[in-house]
Amino acid sequence: MTASTQASVVSRTLHGSVLVVTIDHPPVNALSVDVRRGLAEAIEAAQSDAAVAAVLIVGAGRNFIAGADIREFGKPPLSPLLPAVCNSIEACTKPVVAAIHGAALGGGLEIALAAHYRIAVRGAKLGLPEVQLGLLPGAGGTQRAPRLIGAAHALDLMLSGRHVRAEEALAMGLVDRLGATDDVLGEGLAYTRELLAAKAGVRPTRAATALADLQAGRAAVEAARKETAARTRGLFSPMKIVQAVEAALTLPFDEGLALERQLFVECLESPQRAGLIHAFFAEREVAKAPETKAASARAVASVGIVGGGTMGAGIAVAVLDAGLPITMIERDEAALERGRAHIERVYDGLLAKGRIQAEVKDAALARFTGSTSYDALANVDLVIEAVFEDMAVKKAVFSELDRVCKPGAILATNTSYLDIDEIAGVTSRPFDVVGLHFFSPANIMKLLEIVVPARVSADVVATAFELAKQLRKVPVRAGVCDGFIGNRLLAVYRTAADYLMEDGASPYQIDRAMREFGYPMGPYQVVDLAGGDIGWAARKRRAPTRDTRMRYVEIADRLCERGWFGQKTGRGFYRYEPGARTGTPDPEVEAIIDSERARAGISPRSFTDEEIVRRLMCAVINEAANVVREGIALRPLDVDIALVYGYGFPRYRGGPMKYADMLGLPNVLAELTRLSQEDAFFWRPSPLIVELVERGADFASLNGAAS
Ligand code: 3HC
Ligand code: NAI
Repeated sequence: MTASTQASVVSRTLHGSVLVVTIDHPPVNALSVDVRRGLAEAIEAAQSDAAVAAVLIVGAGRNFIAGADIREFGKPPLSPLLPAVCNSIEACTKPVVAAIHGAALGGGLEIALAAHYRIAVRGAKLGLPEVQLGLLPGAGGTQRAPRLIGAAHALDLMLSGRHVRAEEALAMGLVDRLGATDDVLGEGLAYTRELLAAKAGVRPTRAATALADLQAGRAAVEAARKETAARTRGLFSPMKIVQAVEAALTLPFDEGLALERQLFVECLESPQRAGLIHAFFAEREVAKAPETKAASARAVASVGIVGGGTMGAGIAVAVLDAGLPITMIERDEAALERGRAHIERVYDGLLAKGRIQAEVKDAALARFTGSTSYDALANVDLVIEAVFEDMAVKKAVFSELDRVCKPGAILATNTSYLDIDEIAGVTSRPFDVVGLHFFSPANIMKLLEIVVPARVSADVVATAFELAKQLRKVPVRAGVCDGFIGNRLLAVYRTAADYLMEDGASPYQIDRAMREFGYPMGPYQVVDLAGGDIGWAARKRRAPTRDTRMRYVEIADRLCERGWFGQKTGRGFYRYEPGARTGTPDPEVEAIIDSERARAGISPRSFTDEEIVRRLMCAVINEAANVVREGIALRPLDVDIALVYGYGFPRYRGGPMKYADMLGLPNVLAELTRLSQEDAFFWRPSPLIVELVERGADFASLNGAAS
């Protein structure tokens, strides 16, 4: 073995006649310009060196290659470009083998596809996830993958973005060989030597024949086109993927590559790519709250849950799924049994859908203990309270927790709106009290707001972030205020919608406009789903302290007074047939709206869908700016992730703050100023927006290095 090169991100070492090309570019071997250059040089060196009979490409560290360097997108392209590097690998006159461990994703898999042979070791995950970034595979993947594994498998990989394990990759023909051990270099070398001994020669993927059955290929493309039209509402890149794969069937390879490039650039330039890549980095950034750097997490090996209602049961499943034992406390045996039955129903549902095996359910339920006595919580490391949203009840619960829990136990509340400082104040240990605000259904929804009261200690917050990781949640740090980040913004969104409704738009038009914008449901569909009574109770609670300058729309109250709480009562803003989840517009609701307008002396105006979106988004952006200004959210990106993961904000728009930057903050300010002539109180521009516009800055400038 002779070492031959430079300390760089790509090194070359001759092992006998095999040139091992190692990519060592932490953290994930992304294909930045230096890596591309190193790979191109390695292939050239292999070509010109008579001592080299074959090339083996491997990755150092935990992965083969995670793909293109996402941080380079949106900047001027630097040569050599990835498609050219892939072409030169494929054109090498000596066999090139890719030995894959860890992630071979996107451009990383495209490098492997350009090689002549592929071996993967166990634990490898392969995929073409570009669609999740608003892109398509742009380095030959749309042309090589279908030729290698057929159009149906290739479309599945590219449209879902899913990762496949080595075994599945072998079964679909994506790799040629599974390594018997985890030693990727050893396995790769043995395979390469075996190929050389068999005089296997080069095998360009462009000449692979999985598309020989043209009819099957066309059928796969047509099916994908239909499915994409029906399911990927509003997304730009999926249809481009279908178009590119179709070209693999109809065009010669090089023309297909040229079309792929053109479509890739279209995707690259789309605002959706910018939004999705913002979400990619922001999602990783939110987990790095200051407390996670300042303090070490406490150990959490057992969890108590107080309250076994909708949230308590859902949180219990999330915790059980992470492998932790729980102790649930309820008011009486009947309520405890309801809580346990709720948990069992969730597992039965997963079982029926084939998502889990019976043993998983049994093991989870074996970790469940229930009690009606708080004393059962004496030894748990962390308690999550999810009882009624009532300050007196919460205070009584926290006094009990303070009495029974061991020193050092973390006491968390799932309150949606209440003042956690006040709750902490009834304990002798406010430094152990934190907010863990889950979303319903808590075992499914990814967002976890970690609410940080004034007196909590840093290691408690760090533990909350660690717990989020264990539960596979996306944590967002929030400060204490009415509604924290998410529900506070939801409130202004709903208020702006109510103003529009009273001023002339129908709830059905508002819902449609917001769905078109990209929300899975409109605001009134959400009210009907969650139950109108919840908001009604909150409005009544706040009535005595409501600011008199605030316009108040009573339409929702009129519906609630009739007992129309939404889906669960068969009527809300929509009418529901028994058991139906989709409602139909209700003329009686429209009549109620008309009479409320008349009562308020309003002559209805008409609004375009665009105006509806503009108003609702301006309301959210403006309040979001206040949330950042007050330090309730650490940065704009925390707001973005809260809304994307907890409230259905379209991910491809990056979140409200990213969307505001894309609109241009001066335009947002101009709109707010225009609207404030209608209602100076509600539409008062946030001082943060005014200040940023004066400085010529945007929200991204407040995100630090993450933007
Ligand atoms: N480019 C640049 N940075 C990347 C990156 C990439 N492709 N992939 C990951 N990173 C960064 C992350 O931002 C993170 O940075 P940080 O430490 O500063 O926060 C760091 O690498 C580690 O990433 P994770 O925290 O995600 O590490 P995990 O071990 O949990 O996951 C992974 C590793 C599975 C590789 C995951 O990072 C991942 O899925 N990456 C993206 C893969 C992808 O989408 N590839 C396609 C890119 S587009 C493309 O290739 C276009 C081509 O067709 C032309
Ligand atoms: P729920 O009414 O479904 O459940 C509350 C449960 O707490 C009931 O089972 C009740 O028996 C029990 N309980 C009441 N007092 C108790 C006590 N002293 N000791 C033990 N158990 C007691 O309510 P839900 O919806 O689960 O809400 C619980 C909390 O979660 C509230 O603070 C709510 O604001 C919050 N939350 C609710 C969300 C939702 O979508 N429902 C979302 C996020 C937070």
